[in-house]
Amino acid sequence: MKKEVVLITGGTGLIGSVLQTILLDAGYEVILLSRNAKNENSYLWDVEKNFIDKQAILKTDHLIHLAGAGIADKRWTEARKKEIIDSRVDTTSLLIESFKQHKKELKTVIAASAIGYYGFKTSKHIYTETDAPATGFLADTCVTWEKATSAFNEISERLVQIRIGVVLDKNGGALKKMAQPVHFFAGAAIGSGKQYMPWIHVKDLCDMILYTLKNQKTHGIYNGVSSTHITNEDFTKAIGKALHRPILLPAIPAFVIKALFGDMAGMVLEGSRVSNEKIKETGFNFKFENIDLALEDLLGK
Ligand SMILES: NC(=O)c1ccc[n+]([C@@H]2O[C@H](COP(=O)([O-])OP(=O)(O)OC[C@H]3O[C@@H](n4cnc5c(N)ncnc54)[C@H](OP(=O)(O)O)[C@@H]3O)[C@@H](O)[C@H]2O)c1
Repeated sequence: MKKEVVLITGGTGLIGSVLQTILLDAGYEVILLSRNAKNENSYLWDVEKNFIDKQAILKTDHLIHLAGAGIADKRWTEARKKEIIDSRVDTTSLLIESFKQHKKELKTVIAASAIGYYGFKTSKHIYTETDAPATGFLADTCVTWEKATSAFNEISERLVQIRIGVVLDKNGGALKKMAQPVHFFAGAAIGSGKQYMPWIHVKDLCDMILYTLKNQKTHGIYNGVSSTHITNEDFTKAIGKALHRPILLPAIPAFVIKALFGDMAGMVLEGSRVSNEKIKETGFNFKFENIDLALEDLLGK
């Protein structure tokens, strides 16, 4: 029987690299759209030139749209902010135009968004998918991004948008950045340490993507975060436990973080609690609900 083809944009990144294996194991054919197509399952696109390799469009049954310039990779200059938005909105418009042009209808689109939609507020409130967005650069970006990706409804039978939390993976992202100083006995909480950090193990996120791909009843917006609400201090201590390192240093003061990260500082100095009840109510089970088990899996020898 012919395998169904899943096209991943941004498939070379942190999430996409793990997702590729999970989809292949589940019996899909996986192809990628990349700015640097390097192997036979990889097709080229160039948003500035309005170009997507036609072969990728014609083959695709399901699309997973992850591409976007890294939100926390560089300081938020005006140019970088524009790149963060354009790399999400312009890629989305190009994909929609190209599928329309080739009269190719999709069975499923799964598009990334981020929990930055709810803003960063350390409070008792637990945000659900129906909460209104916050204001500020990241929340505004998520609103613009989701509005753009909602137009996938024009070319797809089904659309799922996932507001992703901090993805934990040993190969990169937040965990690698935070585990390094802990490993060298220089780990410390940030600011008050009381800010929440909605997190998800990369395997749970990729399993959730596979689940929504297969489960026809899922559609619309879902939060992609684990069930356990931990603070920055809890997380720092849990990394110390997983790496067998004590956390000896006092928390890094907020003014240092503001000097180092500029506008991005709010993202680490405050943090909201986010619910995953909506996806669980559909029958999805998280494997890593507990931060110690997640870190043991990711950092354990
Ligand atoms: N990781 C997290 O903690 C997290 C949390 C919330 C939301 N998300 C969202 O989930 C998506 C995937 O995350 P990730 O961590 O896997 O991202 P990532 O590791 O930064 O990879 C993103 C991929 O997007 C492509 N890309 C980068 N800059 C681009 C640009 N200017 N124009 C077009 N494509 C570009 C790259 O693929 P090529 O080089 O092959 O073109 C890159 O491999 C992103 O949209 C991200 O914002 C991630």
